[in-house]
Amino acid sequence: MTQDELKALVGQAAIAYVQPGSIVGVGTGSTVNHFIDALGRMPVRVAGAVSSSVQSTARLKALGIPVLEANDVTRLGVYVDGADEIDAHGCMIKGGGAALTREKICADLADKFVCIADESKRVDVLGRFPLPVEVIAIAVAQIMRRFAAMGGQPSVRANVLTDNGHPIIDVRGLSITDPEALEREINQWPGVVSVGIFARHRADVCLLGTSSGVQTLT
Ligand code: A5P
Repeated sequence: MTQDELKALVGQAAIAYVQPGSIVGVGTGSTVNHFIDALGRMPVRVAGAVSSSVQSTARLKALGIPVLEANDVTRLGVYVDGADEIDAHGCMIKGGGAALTREKICADLADKFVCIADESKRVDVLGRFPLPVEVIAIAVAQIMRRFAAMGGQPSVRANVLTDNGHPIIDVRGLSITDPEALEREINQWPGVVSVGIFARHRADVCLLGTSSGVQTLT
């Protein structure tokens, strides 16, 4: 199976977690695009979605699925999103698609985070994928110095501003053995909007697309 076929497999499988008539949280990325397409095929559809990006909002609306603001809901039963990396505990690196802040807001609203990913995303230790960090522009240099001091190689993502209008720093060379502690520390640095470590808001379930089918990791 191709990587895209694995993504389509888990995008469809995630529908089992979605209540018809409910409001669902929807992430961002090529795997989630398959999930959105599967939402469009549900015989009884969801009532609406809270979306984590302009890109996903456009795809949802094109299928006629109403999109609500995060401020308009008090909770989401389920949030379905992809990941750039996921470990055995459901901790993730996210933000490869630059949507990490809105993704974390959706995850925070959700009772259950269902991660959908192909098997290439499963790692033992987070950090091979460069860690995305959304920052306030005037703090870029200081935050880059902080990452360099801890042994990382930070760089500003070229020609990218998030949907919130902020730059992203990608940090290579980190071996994230304690995701919760590192997320907590980086969150305290002035100028950090969101760090792409999802440890506090880790996945409750991961649907992993493998050549032998969908593996459900809890
Ligand atoms: C978006 O900002 C990311 O967190 C995505 O969840 C991640 O990049 C996964 O994308 P793909 O599904 O395209 O691999």
